[in-house]
Amino acid sequence: MIPRPRQGAIAFSFLCLLIITPLNAAPMSTTFQLDTSTSRANPTPKPMRRLTVPRVRARKKDGVTEEPLVMLTAYTARQAQLLDAHCDLLLVGDSLGQVIYGLPSTIPVTLEMMANHGAAVVRGSYHSVVVVDMPFGSYEGSKEQAFESASYLLKQTGAAAVKLEGGEAMAETVEFLNSRGIPVMGHVGLTPQAVNVLGGYAARGRSDSEADKIVSDAVALDKAGAFAIVIEGVVEPIAIETTKAVSVPTIGIGASAQCDGQVLVTEDMLGMFERVPRFVKRYDDIAGMIDKTVATYAEEVRSRSFPSEEQTYQPKS
Ligand code: KIV
Repeated sequence: MIPRPRQGAIAFSFLCLLIITPLNAAPMSTTFQLDTSTSRANPTPKPMRRLTVPRVRARKKDGVTEEPLVMLTAYTARQAQLLDAHCDLLLVGDSLGQVIYGLPSTIPVTLEMMANHGAAVVRGSYHSVVVVDMPFGSYEGSKEQAFESASYLLKQTGAAAVKLEGGEAMAETVEFLNSRGIPVMGHVGLTPQAVNVLGGYAARGRSDSEADKIVSDAVALDKAGAFAIVIEGVVEPIAIETTKAVSVPTIGIGASAQCDGQVLVTEDMLGMFERVPRFVKRYDDIAGMIDKTVATYAEEVRSRSFPSEEQTYQPKS
């Protein structure tokens, strides 16, 4: 017999659906069971008070960040549950285009993809500030377009902030969003959404003009009210200069340990991919572990040793 949910649980789920439906026009299905004591998806980490954007911003005082900020990407509820207690920020990055959807770049990523994954990550976390990337084409047209897209993302996901790419060109938009209740994380240096302009993913800041632009972009974002700035793929001296030039925390990826925090794509640092950019440290070999485990499973299925008695139901005697 397949175990069935209790009547009470069904009634509770139905009640939740009734309550949630008017807030979210399209309720999303979840494979998690609802924990009726906490109303959170199971299994849950120990509840903690969620960090806030002002507290993240305040970690850099008078140009000094005593304890660097820890950020990782997260795209799913379960991944968020596993990362949450260790991180200050979870970034629902548009890198999900390549990592989850197998797309060639972040260009085809849509607002709906970001909204769906952002909502899952918020459901799976208690502690970290969740930041959702604004995808290419959803904010560059005008500050009003940016507000419409960013407010949609915050409403759909429950995230606390958005991230967008670009410096001086985006400063007016950042100011517009921030003054209307939407905290913004900036992103300078190698900005993957601009791959067609940049011509690839090489490190930035090697020429004087590139270096000056990275620093002035970050300063413009700082003045516009960004609460933190990602510095990606920038030669170390320029990453350090940029970090010193701004009052808000910088978060490095392929930048410098002197940044005010660090971010990596979680799948990269866990070793889900054999080939990773030079700046990634592979902390483990999850791809190898999956390969070995699945080979064992396949062998056991083929030899009929799985399922064994332990994993099969027998009639009650
Ligand atoms: O999309 C992403 O994952 C990012 C990080 C690499 C900073 O923007």
